[in-house]
Amino acid sequence: MGIDGIIRPELEPLVPYAPGLRASQVRERSGVDRVLKLSSNEHPCGPVPSALAAMRAVLSRVNRYPDGACAALKRKLADRLKVAVDNVVVGNGSNEVLRLIAQSVLRPGDEVVFAWPSFVVYPMVTAIFGATAVRVPLADGDVHDLDAMLAAMTERTRLAFLCNPNNPTGTIYGRDAFARFMERVPDHVLVVVDEAYFEFVTAPGYPDALEWFDGSRPLAVCRTFSKMYSLAGLRVGYGIVPEPLARAIDKVREPFNVNTVAQIAAYYALDDEAEVRRRRAENQEQKTYLYSCFDQLGISYARSETNFVYVRTAKPVEAFEALLQQGVIVRDFGTSPALRVTVGTPEDTERTIQAFEAAVAQLGTL
Ligand SMILES: Cc1ncc(COP(=O)(O)O)c(C=O)c1O
Repeated sequence: MGIDGIIRPELEPLVPYAPGLRASQVRERSGVDRVLKLSSNEHPCGPVPSALAAMRAVLSRVNRYPDGACAALKRKLADRLKVAVDNVVVGNGSNEVLRLIAQSVLRPGDEVVFAWPSFVVYPMVTAIFGATAVRVPLADGDVHDLDAMLAAMTERTRLAFLCNPNNPTGTIYGRDAFARFMERVPDHVLVVVDEAYFEFVTAPGYPDALEWFDGSRPLAVCRTFSKMYSLAGLRVGYGIVPEPLARAIDKVREPFNVNTVAQIAAYYALDDEAEVRRRRAENQEQKTYLYSCFDQLGISYARSETNFVYVRTAKPVEAFEALLQQGVIVRDFGTSPALRVTVGTPEDTERTIQAFEAAVAQLGTL
C-alpha cells in the first residue's frame, strides 16, 4: 500500500494554509530595503506595555508546563464578558478554537454553511473532519447574505460559521439581520460567530453576538488576542460556548494547548482598555484617510469595520506585483478580483498611499 495509501484520502484536495510573503523574501525580490507587510492583519504596534512586562517576568518559569486549565485567564474573561467560567474555552489562537469546535461536532456527511469569500480556515476545518462545505456567496456590497445562508441549511447542516466583521471584506451584517437569523436558525445547527476583529468595530448597528448567548442555545462566539492586542506571535484566542461543548473541547484539545507566556500576556492585555480605545480611534482615522485617497485614485473598496481594507480590482495579479515593487506586501486571493490591505501606523498609511499611486500610474486604473 505504501505511505500514500495510508494517509486519509479526504486530505488530498486540501492545500496548506499559505501565509503570504515574508518581508525578507520581498527585500530580496524587489531590492527595496524598507518592506511593509500589510498582508496578515497584524497590529503595527507591539504588545500593550502591561502585557510586555508580564511576559518578561514569566520567561524564567517556562521550565514548568503551563496551567492546562488556563484558570486565571478564563476567570478574567468570564468576569469581563459576564458569562460563567464553564463557558470559556481558550486556544492556541482562535484558529485552534475554531478547529476544536469543528472536531467536537463534525462527522463525515455533515454540512457546514458559511459565506464566501470568508476566512479560509472554515473550509479547511470542514474538510479535515470529513464534512461538506456549503459556501453561500456574499450579497451585493460584499456582505453576508444571512437569508441565503438559512435557505442553504438542510437536515444535515451541523455548523454555520458567521464571520462578523468578515475577513477578507471587512464588512458587517447588522443587528436586525442577525436577530432574524437567530430566530429562524434550526436548533440542530451550531452557530459559530467569529469576531476576531470585534475590538476594531465602530459601527453603531454592529451586533455583539454575546448578547444572544444564554449558555443553552447552540451558539458559540470566538475572539482573539492576535489583532487588537498585538499578540499574534504568541497564539492565544478564546471561545464562549455552551458548557457541554466546552466539556467536549476539553476532551479533544491538547493537555497544555496554550503556553505560559501567552496566558499571562493575554491576562494583562485585558487590563489596558484605554490603549484599546486609542488604537481603535487611530485605526479609524487611518482608514478614513485611506478611503479618501482611494476615492481620489478611483479605487473601489468595501467600507471596513476592521484593521484592513478590501480593495476591488480587475487586475489583482498586476496590482499585487506593482505594490510589491514598492516594497508593500498585500494579500491576494489567487483569481479573486480583490486585494486586502492591512491598516498600519500613520507612516505606514503614507507609504501605502504612495505605493497605490505608483501602481495606478503604472497600470492606469486598478
Ligand atoms: C476572521 C478570523 N478568524 C480567526 C482568525 C485567527 O486568528 P488567531 O488564530 O490568530 O487568533 C483570523 C486571523 O487572521 C481571522 O481573520
